[in-house]
Amino acid sequence: LSDGPLKGRHILVTSGPTHEPIDPVRYIANRSSGAQGTALAEALRDLGARVSFITGPASVPPPAGVTVTRVETAREMQAAVQAALPADAAIFAAAVADWRVENAASKKMKKDGSGALPTLAFAENPDILAQVSQMTSGRPALVVGFAAETHDVQRHATEKRARKGCDWIVANDVSPETGIMGGSENAVTVIDDKGAEQWDRMSKADTARRLAARIAAALGAS
Ligand code: C5P
Repeated sequence: LSDGPLKGRHILVTSGPTHEPIDPVRYIANRSSGAQGTALAEALRDLGARVSFITGPASVPPPAGVTVTRVETAREMQAAVQAALPADAAIFAAAVADWRVENAASKKMKKDGSGALPTLAFAENPDILAQVSQMTSGRPALVVGFAAETHDVQRHATEKRARKGCDWIVANDVSPETGIMGGSENAVTVIDDKGAEQWDRMSKADTARRLAARIAAALGAS
């Protein structure tokens, strides 16, 4: 671990998408690459933090020098987060699937030739960010959520912060024309108890370094 303002602090970071199985060979997923969560874990590591990095099946490799737990589903991610706590801060950058397939098949689903179509039934996944935000004992001092929106970013993110009970929401516009989802740049709005702070568009690495510095300051570590 490098010396730095976050030396001795434990920070949990979730990242990447989750995969929710339909049957043993098929799943439902989303377009998260894990790039921003990975960059953030690197930036926190570089400030000296001990980082627990809990990642779904991302398209970028996890950073070196952090403790990596690989998961597939939202419920596996929830269990890994519980196992990694306590932490000084918890940053939820993962794009967790809101729903899982409740009637997932244990064997590969087959066409039977009759033209009959399968019907998927959904169940709601646990909201990991909300759960950790609302812990009554042992809550991390700083809990940060992300919000990927396609419109009315600031209003939706402000509502989300209140609903989940987290300290900050880092919101971004993931409309396809922004090229942010899966791209190398981000333009975020950071929402905390004092209001909204709009940051310029910059690389995900620079966004991560600036966020990591803000996290260190909030933990009184800078
Ligand atoms: O409600 P929404 O999914 O838009 O909220 C996004 C934030 O909540 C992200 O920080 C995400 O990591 C977190 N989240 C979670 N568990 C869920 C859904 C979202 O931790 N089941």
